[in-house]
Amino acid sequence: MSDLSRRAQAMAESVTMAITAKAGQLRAAGKPVIGFGAGEPDFATPDHIVAAAEAACRDPKAHHYGPAAGMPALREAITATAPAMTAAASQVVVTNGAKQAVYQTCSVLLDPGDEALVPAPYWVTYPEAVKLAGATPVAVPHDADLKVTPEVLERNRTERTKLLIFVSPSNPTGVVYTLVELAAIGRWAAEHGVWVMSDEIYEHLTYGGVQATSLATAAPEVLDYYVHVNGVSKTYAMTGWRVGWLIAPPEVAKAAASLQSHLSSNVSNVSQIAALAALEGGLESAHAMREAFDRRRQTMVTMLRDTAGVSLVEPMGAFYAFPDVSELMSKKGIGSSVDLASTLLDEAEIAVVPGDAFGAPGFLRFSFALSDEDLAEGLSRFQTWAS
Ligand SMILES: Cc1ncc(COP(=O)(O)O)c(C=O)c1O
Repeated sequence: MSDLSRRAQAMAESVTMAITAKAGQLRAAGKPVIGFGAGEPDFATPDHIVAAAEAACRDPKAHHYGPAAGMPALREAITATAPAMTAAASQVVVTNGAKQAVYQTCSVLLDPGDEALVPAPYWVTYPEAVKLAGATPVAVPHDADLKVTPEVLERNRTERTKLLIFVSPSNPTGVVYTLVELAAIGRWAAEHGVWVMSDEIYEHLTYGGVQATSLATAAPEVLDYYVHVNGVSKTYAMTGWRVGWLIAPPEVAKAAASLQSHLSSNVSNVSQIAALAALEGGLESAHAMREAFDRRRQTMVTMLRDTAGVSLVEPMGAFYAFPDVSELMSKKGIGSSVDLASTLLDEAEIAVVPGDAFGAPGFLRFSFALSDEDLAEGLSRFQTWAS
């Protein structure tokens, strides 16, 4: 019998961990493994942001505790990133990455017995954050274009449904919902009094003329029951700086700030000052990064679609492709995407993330946050293996 709490025992082990560890061992043994697992931009943080952080390091004002919910100037700047919410700075809580915002939102909204709808394929953290709050995640199946509709959400709603966890552009699928689709989902949520947490961390990484629309813009009727989650990690290549945020109705923001004051206090002042420089500096560097991602995305889409037994919904956002490999698996007699990923590592020397990790057996996730050369070489190995 374990001494661990039931909550700790209920946490899923990361399906990706075994693959990552195995890829590391193979690389250490001199194998030229190409990794498609990256969940972060392969670019450095832009210079003007680093310079602001350097100056902050030397400023004694940044050397001490600050307000748990974040620096007033940063909270004010964050309100401008979600204009449809017309929120006050007091409704913003600056967190250690968007990940902490997800956890805090679940902790302050959910009770044991509550259910949270989590459309699959989902980012791995969502169900765990729900479980750690003592509530129950309910995976909602996707349709053929990897999206969820109000009809399917309604079929999965019970009187215990408290929250919908929503993300667009999506990790792991790269799908971007249209304004019309978002409006319908928002209307459904408002009609049934379901809270929505909308994770918009990939909002500036969209391609082919597609623009990400915020759920708050598409469906203002959700605003009384709405938490917006975002951060600087993906837009500004700042994953290691750990700055995210939530914007919520006053009571929720106050509870999240209070929780954070006991949990972790303020996010590092140096990182907050860097995040402020990022928001004030505009999106030029993000657009340059987006151009490189788009070039790689196009290569990836073409090459995956040319791979035997693979079909793909074209990703229009984030930096992931999420091909359906169920036909390939049956052709090769492989029973799960975890086994397929492990075989690809051994036989094609490529590391990919199995769809099971995201509640989508029969799929693989390929990140396009790697060099053009490695991407083409890795996908060509995949094609040869699959043929
Ligand atoms: C959908 C989604 N939300 C949130 C995050 C967390 O971002 P952060 O680095 O700000 O914690 C990630 C990171 O992979 C993500 O993919």
